Amino acid sequence: TKLDMELAAIEKGGYEHFMLKEIFEQPTAVFDCLRGRLDAKKGTITMGGIDQHLDLLREANRIIIVGCGTSWHAGLLAEYVLEELCRVPVEVEYASEFRYRNPVINPGDVIIAVSQSGETADTLVALENAKNKGAFIFGVVNVVGSSIARLSQAGAYTHAGPEIGVASTKAFTAQLTVLYMIAIKLGYSKGTLSKERYQHLINELSLVPDKIQDALNEATSIEKLAKKYQHARDFLFLGRGYNFPIALEGALKLKEISYIHAEGYPAAEMKHGPIALVEETLPVVFVATRDVYHEKLVSNAREIKARKGQVLAVITENDDLFEEIADDTISVPAADELIAPLISVVPLQLLAYYTGLAKGLDVDKPRNLAKSVTVE
Ligand code: G6P
Repeated sequence: TKLDMELAAIEKGGYEHFMLKEIFEQPTAVFDCLRGRLDAKKGTITMGGIDQHLDLLREANRIIIVGCGTSWHAGLLAEYVLEELCRVPVEVEYASEFRYRNPVINPGDVIIAVSQSGETADTLVALENAKNKGAFIFGVVNVVGSSIARLSQAGAYTHAGPEIGVASTKAFTAQLTVLYMIAIKLGYSKGTLSKERYQHLINELSLVPDKIQDALNEATSIEKLAKKYQHARDFLFLGRGYNFPIALEGALKLKEISYIHAEGYPAAEMKHGPIALVEETLPVVFVATRDVYHEKLVSNAREIKARKGQVLAVITENDDLFEEIADDTISVPAADELIAPLISVVPLQLLAYYTGLAKGLDVDKPRNLAKSVTVE
């Protein structure tokens, strides 16, 4: 009815789709996630769920992160960050595999469950099994009071607000924000993270909402790129280090929303397969913000150009070298390389959104997908 349509329009707050609204809500979502927890001036991170179990977390033999889809990607990045800052072995598991493959779980293992909805069936059962084997379950969940939140023995909510679009966007950046806070807090408390680096990372995290806002200001040029590349049959997304999980997430977003086949790969692995696909019609997206791998990505991009592929790159602003090599670039503000993925994912979300839009697809409800998969 007309009333239903008007109500839906009000809920979308002036945006054409929930997905776009939620992408643009990310500065607020991350800010809300940090609020009351991270105090950059005092140099503190306060999280009830962590503070109450600090000894247990500090002494964990191993951390196993469990999730599905986009939440699994947040987990993969958290693996890199936790190992770097806390020097604890971390594994990331697809919940659907973990629940059936008789994994080794011992008391002293901590499971971090990552889930937007808190209702994903595979994740829920995987956690129940692990809990029965004596693992401690820490939930990083968005929906308050959800099944996974209730099953967890401790946790930290992501406070991203309701996410309606099927493709997860603001829930992802909020998950990362929580996981980063955990890693920074735990690393400092374990002594594996120096006071200086701790304070630096806290400052950098507090700047993320503004930097995401700057990244969002590129939306119009990203829309143009989406129109330019919308007819591609395949897309390759390449990243390295902290940006590798972002390459995976960029590919997942694009295939969910535009139905274009897309693969994410660690940039250096391209020689072991994907390079065979490179030809004039293949766009290759580099997640290439400035970090220790930068020169290696530059030479990877040159290899793609030498084979006539099209290079699109998400770069740190004023990266003249990459601008020269790439067919198209999207700039994001400079950030510590550990923090950069929270910002570099945003243009990829927009690329997926505008590609789906250009193709006239239902971006909020892509075919065959569900917001929350509560069956096996
Ligand atoms: C579905 C959704 C994804 C989500 C995944 C995990 O596939 O479409 O957006 O990442 O489930 O959901 P969860 O609620 O557990 O994060």
